[in-house]
Amino acid sequence: MAGDEDFIISYVHGVLALDSRGNPTVKVIVKTKGGVGVGIAPSGASKSTKEAIEKRDGGRGWGGMGVGQALSNVNTLLSPRLIGLDSRRQALIDGVMIEIDGTPNKSRLGGNVTTATSIAVAKAAAASSGVELYEYLGGPGAKVLPTPLMNVINGGVHAGNDLAFQEFIMIPAGAASFAEAMRMAVEVYKSLKSYLTDKYGKTSTNVGDEGGYAPPMKEVREALEALRAAIKSAGYELGSDFLLGLDAASSEFYDPEKKAYRVDGKLYEPGELLELYSQLVDEFSIAYLEDPFHEDDLQHFTEITAKLGSRVLIVGDDLYATNVKYLKRGIEAKATNGALVKVNQVGTLTETLDYVRMARNAGVRPVISHRSGDTEDPFIADLAVAVGAGLIKTGAPARSERLAKYNRLLEIEDSLGPLAVYAGKEPFTR
Ligand code: PGA
Ligand code: ZN
Repeated sequence: MAGDEDFIISYVHGVLALDSRGNPTVKVIVKTKGGVGVGIAPSGASKSTKEAIEKRDGGRGWGGMGVGQALSNVNTLLSPRLIGLDSRRQALIDGVMIEIDGTPNKSRLGGNVTTATSIAVAKAAAASSGVELYEYLGGPGAKVLPTPLMNVINGGVHAGNDLAFQEFIMIPAGAASFAEAMRMAVEVYKSLKSYLTDKYGKTSTNVGDEGGYAPPMKEVREALEALRAAIKSAGYELGSDFLLGLDAASSEFYDPEKKAYRVDGKLYEPGELLELYSQLVDEFSIAYLEDPFHEDDLQHFTEITAKLGSRVLIVGDDLYATNVKYLKRGIEAKATNGALVKVNQVGTLTETLDYVRMARNAGVRPVISHRSGDTEDPFIADLAVAVGAGLIKTGAPARSERLAKYNRLLEIEDSLGPLAVYAGKEPFTR
């Protein structure tokens, strides 16, 4: 049994790491007598304006993306304040960081600094107590393996093609276990590769930031048709074995001057875009739709949720930025029935858990998510099981920063043995 002294923080150190796009990021190592925890901050490309600010050096080196100042914040501002604290007191430690930062958006310390530190503290506490991270965070009830939302065709700002929507997602909801879901997903991922090679040539299977293919498609329907064909040719049925999803990430193709959205070379008024989404939902068994409207258009979120919410999970990402302040507004407006969860959007684990709790209490489904620039840190896999989210979004079955999360979930399912429950279709049944 670990004693109290085993949990006392004795070392906090920030060190340079590189993310999956080769950009500098913050890695934090926290040590106690009883264990070590390492957290690495991920980084988005299609960011919300409501997110915590990453501390970047600017200037010429690293194209302005350097994190020298951020690392020095860990080593000179945070380290002396955190050493001596009990690593189990996550809320207290996150509160100390929020206090030292003193800004509404973590711009002084840096959201990358607070994210990596907060995660490292949780891992050090789990290691010191000798239990698995998901168990430490979620207790003995943590046994639900999330259904993966796998972004297998990349568009938007994650790919060098003309697709307006950022993510075309396949969902192996009909599997009996997480391991079976991964097998089915990999089979479809490979059959998608053959389909794309036949139809668009071999350059069409180069992959984008999240491991999905980035084919030279022009229209969103082409991508959905490719997914439907790949599911069929792998021997599965769309609508039962697999469902489909979209992250439109529509702030990126919204034209504020024209108050309209640019999709497939045409301009769509919000009402017309809503009509397009409804047609796609009917045609392609779409069960998941993220950021259908831009991040300040609460009104059309409310409209689409009223219209499609009984059949489709309508999820706010840029809309909420993992911040209870924006989620509260969304709940009051009945804007969505799902809420994306990204620790680095708000910058601490405590604030993230508050957000998950608020969502859950309002009947809004939390969806644990990676970032397009991510790392080998599998933290979100444990987080998804700990909070019983039932859904995780962490890319295609390709690129090791994505597979780190899937491989960790395979390991968790194995370690739970017969206790493990695969969420499957449950998050989609209302
Ligand atoms: P980002 O994309 O990490 O580039 O923000 C992921 C998403 O929009 O869900
Ligand atoms: Zn998104």
